[in-house]
Amino acid sequence: MKKEVSVLVGAGSIGQAIIRRVSAGKHIVLADYSLDNAQKAAKTLEDAGYECSTLQCDLGSKEDTLRLVEFAIGKGEVRYMVNAAGVSPSQAPVHHILQVDLYGTSVLMEEFGKVIAEGGSGIIISSQSGHRLPALPQEQNDALAMTPCEELLELPFLKEITDTLKAYQYSKRCNVLRVMYEANRWGLRGATINSISPGIIITPLANDELHGPRKDGYLNMIKGMPARRAGTPDEVGDLAEFLMSSRGRFINGADILIDGGCTASYWYGDLQYLKTTH
Ligand SMILES: NC(=O)c1ccc[n+]([C@@H]2O[C@H](COP(=O)([O-])OP(=O)(O)OC[C@H]3O[C@@H](n4cnc5c(N)ncnc54)[C@H](O)[C@@H]3O)[C@@H](O)[C@H]2O)c1
Repeated sequence: MKKEVSVLVGAGSIGQAIIRRVSAGKHIVLADYSLDNAQKAAKTLEDAGYECSTLQCDLGSKEDTLRLVEFAIGKGEVRYMVNAAGVSPSQAPVHHILQVDLYGTSVLMEEFGKVIAEGGSGIIISSQSGHRLPALPQEQNDALAMTPCEELLELPFLKEITDTLKAYQYSKRCNVLRVMYEANRWGLRGATINSISPGIIITPLANDELHGPRKDGYLNMIKGMPARRAGTPDEVGDLAEFLMSSRGRFINGADILIDGGCTASYWYGDLQYLKTTH
């Protein structure tokens, strides 16, 4: 018998925290660039009573995304789709960040928007980093939201980007705008799609930063923000669960910042000094 399906792209800490909250009794498809990561996540989830399958998939490749959609609908009706895959500014060059975080995420929303079940829901993990870009001209907002996916990377203002932090910030801003655009299409199927913009969340990656050469900058950021601590994947999972539940059905096309007040502090508080560097 086919089950309802939950799809997770990017089987890291944040993605796992979300998917385990909404997938009891469903079939979970874990898609990741690293099959090893997907298989490790599957083992953890299977040991906790979930049913999973894994697929190697590069979010930056449309071909892989189409393969993922086929794989998922072969398992049953897709009820949930979560994108928690991404590459950060210190992990990849500009073109790779734009290919995966901006283009790939846009294709993913479009393709799952064609098959999502009635009553279903999508979550895109964006970042507080996108909230550090000043307001863009309306034409750029419109272009990021509505340009056909295959033309996105040809936008002149994206071609001018030379540093990886800007590439990441534009990608995350694009995710939020694209979610608004896609909410209209997902809504026609009775489904919702929203983004979540996390601040510093302790994952293996963030933990490395906290113990590595850039540790002082990180610790100062944490000390300067209202919460005075980093967040946990479970806190992001709780928010996502609400957005995807029956209680969240009136929320569609929204972006929710979950950052312990870090963005508030960046613009108007103790962290304003970061404006010159971040
Ligand atoms: N951890 C934080 O502090 C933080 C803050 C803001 C936003 N985010 C965002 O959250 C998301 C998940 O981050 P995380 O901290 O859980 O990281 P993570 O490293 O634990 O997980 C990311 C997963 O994505 C996979 N991945 C990378 N590139 C891929 C690709 N091209 N195709 C498919 N899978 C790919 C990786 O193999 C990894 O398993 C990312 O989009 C990141 O930008 C994280």
